[in-house]
Order: sequence, then C-alpha cells, then structure tokens
Amino acid sequence: MTILDPEFDPIMEPSRPAAPARSAGERYRIQTVDRPARTASHGQPTPTTPVVRESVFKVEQLAISYGSKTAVQGVTMGIDRNRITAIIGPSGCGKTTFLRSLNRMHDGIPGLRVDGHIYYHGHDLYGSGVDRVEVRRRIGMVFQKPNPFPKSIYDNVAWAPRNLGLRSGLDDRVEKALRGAALWDEVKDRLKDSALGLSGGQQQRLCIARAIAIEPDVLLLDEPASALDPIATASIEELVRTLKAKFTIVIVTHNMQQAARLADRTAFFGLDNERIGTLIEYDETDKIFTNPADTRTEDYVTGRFV
Ligand SMILES: Nc1ncnc2c1ncn2[C@@H]1O[C@H](COP(=O)(O)OP(=O)(O)OP(=O)(O)O)[C@@H](O)[C@H]1O
Ligand SMILES: [Mg+2]
Repeated sequence: MTILDPEFDPIMEPSRPAAPARSAGERYRIQTVDRPARTASHGQPTPTTPVVRESVFKVEQLAISYGSKTAVQGVTMGIDRNRITAIIGPSGCGKTTFLRSLNRMHDGIPGLRVDGHIYYHGHDLYGSGVDRVEVRRRIGMVFQKPNPFPKSIYDNVAWAPRNLGLRSGLDDRVEKALRGAALWDEVKDRLKDSALGLSGGQQQRLCIARAIAIEPDVLLLDEPASALDPIATASIEELVRTLKAKFTIVIVTHNMQQAARLADRTAFFGLDNERIGTLIEYDETDKIFTNPADTRTEDYVTGRFV
C-alpha cells in the first residue's frame, strides 16, 4: 500500500474538493502509545514492562547528496509519535538537510540524490507514486527565519486550508490554529492587519499556526527560535511542549539547553573524517546529555567540540 492508496487517505490536491479534515488519530490506526503493556492477569503495568511506542518515521541508511557532494550519510533512526526529537550537531553536519528530507522539501533541487529509505507510518516516503502535496499536508515545516506571507494574519493561516479546498468552517479553523499557536489573544482584534506588522516572535508563532491549520501529523521545526530574543524563545519552547500532545515534533536546534529542556530524544549528528555529516548517537535526551556512549557526543555537549 502506498500513500496514494485510497484506504490510506484520499489525496487532497488544491484543485479537488477535499474530504473534511480529520485528526491524526482518526487518519491512522493508532497503536498503544507511551503506555506500558498491561499484564493479562491484573491489567496493571509491571515495573519492567517496556513502553511500547509507535514509530512515525523509520529512517534506514539514509544518505543525501547535492551533486557529487554527500551532505549526510549513515542515518538510521526511528522517530516516535507524540514525542519531541531534537537534532543537534555542529554547523554543516546535515541537520537541515536531514530534516527537509522528512517531508521531501528538497524535491526539485537539481542534482539532489536520496539513498536509503524513510518509512512514514510504514510507507516508503520516496517510493514511486507518492504525492508531494499529500506529504506536505501531513508533515508541516517551520523554518529558522519567520516567513509570513505579505498577507493579512487571517489569510496567512487560511492559506493552506484554502489551497486544500477546506473552505467550510474556515473562521473556526483559523481561530483554532491561532489558539493552538498561543497567538489568538494577541491578534484576534487585528486579523485583517498585515502579518508583517507582527513582532519576530509573533511571526514565528503565526508560521506555526499556518503549519498546524491543516492539522498535520508531524511538525518539523528548523531552529525555530534562533532569531528570537529570550522571552520570545521561552514562549516558542512552551508552545512546542504543548503541541507535543497533538503532533510529533522534530526540532533542529543549536541551543543545547533548549534540546535538553524540550526533547524526549536527541540525535547528535557530527562530521566524519571526510567532513560528511553522520548520525553519531541517538538516545533519550537525559542519556545524551549526562552519560553519552560516544566521546564525540560528550565532547560536543560539554562544549569541547569546535
Ligand atoms: N542546496 C544545497 N546545495 C548544495 N549543497 C548544500 C545545499 N544545502 C546544504 N548543502 C551542503 O550540505 C551540507 C549540510 O548542510 P546543512 O544545511 O544541512 O547543515 P546544517 O547542519 O543544517 O548546518 P547549520 O547548523 O549551519 O544550519 C553543507 O556542507 C552544505 O554546504
Ligand atoms: Mg541548518
């Protein structure tokens, strides 16, 4: 079955009338998440029972090249549902390249080559017949620099739903997205004003509202707070923590404290001897920051890496 399989979900191209939006939970058959398996006899979790988590992505031996230059290789990892996964590592090690591969944001870059596999809910994301519109519909992205469209606040948030034909109940959808992005109270009286008049932190929350307006399954965040002051950063972090209940979040950050504060799991990417990005270590965030297995991780998180 591919993502195009009607049983998986109908495609919602901009030109077609769309089915009503459904939550991620309705779209997928959800397995037990973040919940220990129960014993048959008493229905109580035992202390040693492992937590069963649902994988949203399974990445296998991923390598991405721009022309003859390999940016990142040897990435094998799973990303769990309703958790925050942080990607950390030095500049140029392929964090953005990897993140963008998770929603095929690179498609169209001349010479780009993707080897290995990314399975999204078991479906090969780079398999033949996969619809990019549908991929973006499910896997939203927010960039480092807030990039609101030169339109009103309302039209920014309504943009993707309109493109997908989700026109009924649009006001409610816009309000819900703005509330979800913790921006509603600040903008509810000026929805028709230009988004460009918002502060940087507000613009970034607007971009998050724009991304969640079509109720994606996953949010990819590439250094979403790096251009913001500490107060705006704190509000974005608080927001990301809240969004975890509804979305699976993958966040790239250069801010180690931010990764330690926010993420459930952290992946450390580094550069190998040929200066190709690679996944060095991936584990629970506590482990990465307090007892990493690899000395390169330890050097990086303790600031010894230059
Ligand atoms: N569009 C592109 N064309 C050619 N090479 C690229 C392109 N984008 C990235 N690269 C190269 O791929 C490598 C990884 O870049 P990437 O932007 O993924 O790193 P990063 O870890 O996100 O870095 P930073 O922390 O500075 O954002 C770099 O060597 C970069 O020059
Ligand atoms: Mg980057």
